[in-house]
Amino acid sequence: MPLNPAKPVYAISLNLVGFTLKGQNLSSQGFDVRVFTISDLERVMHINAKCLPENYSSYFYRDLYTKYPETFLVAEADGEIQGYIMCRIERGWSKKGKLSAARLAHVVSIAVMESHRRKGIGKELIVQSMARARRLYDCDEGYLEVRVSNEPAIGLYTKLGYSKVKRNYGYYLDGEDAWVMAVSLEEF
Ligand SMILES: CC(C)(COP(=O)(O)OP(=O)(O)OC[C@H]1O[C@@H](n2cnc3c(N)ncnc32)[C@H](O)[C@@H]1OP(=O)(O)O)[C@@H](O)C(=O)NCCC(=O)NCCS
Repeated sequence: MPLNPAKPVYAISLNLVGFTLKGQNLSSQGFDVRVFTISDLERVMHINAKCLPENYSSYFYRDLYTKYPETFLVAEADGEIQGYIMCRIERGWSKKGKLSAARLAHVVSIAVMESHRRKGIGKELIVQSMARARRLYDCDEGYLEVRVSNEPAIGLYTKLGYSKVKRNYGYYLDGEDAWVMAVSLEEF
């Protein structure tokens, strides 16, 4: 598991500021955020298929979960999972313009069921996932790609401190451009 041995994992199991042991709830604001488990896979794939044109094989989800379980979160409301976020932890150059290498939390996918949007679920998924990436995977920055036409998502990321750092022309299969947006995880 790609954890920094200098930052022991057990330090986070003390439930200091709402972060608790794996499998337990991480927040309560009309919905609960917790880490993904394999039994959530079918519902998460359903949400992804309903909400986004970028769909993945079950192997893809399992692989991300196996490698980076601490930043793969789901939000439950009304007795069902209504949203998810999954990330890949990478090493690369700073996306924020620093001339240095960085440990990056790359949001691979995030979605919230239409019926449950504008309730703060997307925001909470990002906040908790980025905070965990910083604490548990020693990440410095978060980044993601977003369709240039996706105003709700761009609005959400901007509100959380992400800024546009690059335009990737023709990034998506249908030819649409992506904004690369990045944030310092000191914010989280
Ligand atoms: C993007 C998405 C995850 C946001 O989830 P959400 O739970 O509705 O977001 P939140 O309720 O946490 O919104 C937080 C803030 O984001 C911004 N925002 C969210 N939806 C917005 C919209 N439709 N228009 C403008 N701003 C929006 C607002 O600033 C909002 O704060 P406010 O409600 O106090 O005004 C959701 O719209 C979604 O699943 N979209 C389809 C999948 C997708 O596009 N994923 C991102 C791919 S890069």
